[in-house]
Amino acid sequence: MKLRNKIFLLVVAILLIIQLPVFRPAKNFTDAEPVNDIAKAYDVPMDIQMHIYDGCYSCHSNYTEKYFWYYNIQPVSWWMASHIRNAKRELNFSEFATYSPQRALKKFKEIEEVMEKKNMPLKSYTLTHKEARFTDEDFHDVAEWARGMQKELSQKKDTPSAPE
Ligand code: HEC
Repeated sequence: MKLRNKIFLLVVAILLIIQLPVFRPAKNFTDAEPVNDIAKAYDVPMDIQMHIYDGCYSCHSNYTEKYFWYYNIQPVSWWMASHIRNAKRELNFSEFATYSPQRALKKFKEIEEVMEKKNMPLKSYTLTHKEARFTDEDFHDVAEWARGMQKELSQKKDTPSAPE
């Protein structure tokens, strides 16, 4: 067999082997009630809630609602799972109510920044998720909200961020 053919067969074999279910990362989903969701501790108006739900929750929460078929293909699934892992480490809307006021303040500042730069939602995500595409107005509204939350937080520094 020619070397080129051998390499081709090897690549095909590897691609097939990594499709085994043991190599598939667990989906980002939990049955637990979202008791620590941001909305339990902070004022999130309905329109903002909808924007962040459509645009951010897939990566920045414990519930990725929609998985496309290609999520079942390795290595695509690894790539997506690592996005979600890194995203949640930075900011998790499902755990936001547990953040200390200092951390929450910092996160609202970062949200404002990414909205102003239009860095989020990630481009690779909005390519396939139409509902996550923000208009200029959406970027502005979410930034404005995040700015307002910072003001509120720094006015009452020692506000307990735990839900009632
Ligand atoms: C497809 C996944 C994905 C979506 C959707 C997404 N993010 Fe992210 N986000 C990430 C990842 C991954 C990181 C980790 C840092 C990095 O790799 O850039 C991150 C980091 C962040 C950070 C940390 C600060 C920074 O500059 O890195 C903030 C704030 C943030 N995202 C806000 C948002 C907001 C707000 C939305 C919705 C409008 C959103 N993200 C949507 C994947 C996503």
